[in-house]
Amino acid sequence: MFPEQIVGDGFVLRALVPSDAAAMFDYLHRPEVFEATSSGGWTREAVDEFVRSNAEGMIGSRWCRYAIVPGGAAALAGDIGFGSIDIRNRRAEIGYHLAPESWGRGLMTRAVGALNAWAFAEGFHRIEATVMEGNFRSERVLQRSGFVREATLRDYKLVRGAFRDFSLWSLLATGGR
Ligand SMILES: CC(C)(COP(=O)(O)OP(=O)(O)OC[C@H]1O[C@@H](n2cnc3c(N)ncnc32)[C@H](O)[C@@H]1OP(=O)(O)O)[C@@H](O)C(=O)NCCC(=O)NCCS
Repeated sequence: MFPEQIVGDGFVLRALVPSDAAAMFDYLHRPEVFEATSSGGWTREAVDEFVRSNAEGMIGSRWCRYAIVPGGAAALAGDIGFGSIDIRNRRAEIGYHLAPESWGRGLMTRAVGALNAWAFAEGFHRIEATVMEGNFRSERVLQRSGFVREATLRDYKLVRGAFRDFSLWSLLATGGR
C-alpha cells in the first residue's frame, strides 16, 4: 500500500533505509527533539532497529516512516510517518521529528500536508495526532495543517517517570464532519 516515495514541494519523502540511521540518531538523541515527545531517549541501536523494522511495517501496512529529504540535500532533515494504522476504520496516527537546524522553515507543515494528501487520496478517512503538553511547535504544525484539537488526554503516557497530559488532534478527509 505505502509508496517508496512521495514527492513534495521542495522535498521528497522516501522510505527509510538503513543508511539513514546515523543522520537520524544525530537529531533524535538531542534533548530539544526527544524531550518534546514521550521517548525515553534514543540509542544508536534503537534507531538502527527502528529503521530496520520499518520495511516490515510498510510491507504489512502496520506502520510507515519516511525520511524527509530537502531538494538537493544528501541526508534527511527529519522523519514522518503513520503508526497505529487501523485499516478497517481507515484511520492512522501521524508522528514526526525534524533536526533543529531545519526548524522554522515550514518544512514539517509541508511534509504533513504531502503525507496526508497521499493518505486521503488512498482512502484514509481520519488522521490523528497526540501531542504532549507544552509542545507548542508541534501544535502549531497541526493547526497550520488544518487539524482540530479534540480533547485533553489526562495522564495519557508515563514519560521519563511522570504521567503527562497529551492533546488529541484530528483531520478528516471531509475537512469538517
Ligand atoms: C514539531 C517540529 C517538527 C516543528 O518544527 P517547525 O520547524 O516548528 O515546523 P515547520 O517545519 O512546519 O515550520 C514552521 C515554522 O516555520 C515558519 N515558516 C517559514 N516558512 C513557512 C512556510 N512556507 N509554511 C509554514 N511555515 C513557515 C513558521 O512561521 C513556523 O515558525 P514559528 O513556529 O516560529 O511561527 C519540531 O519542533 C520538532 O521536531 N520537535 C521535536 C519532535 C516533536 O515534537 N515531534 C512531534 C511530537 S507530537
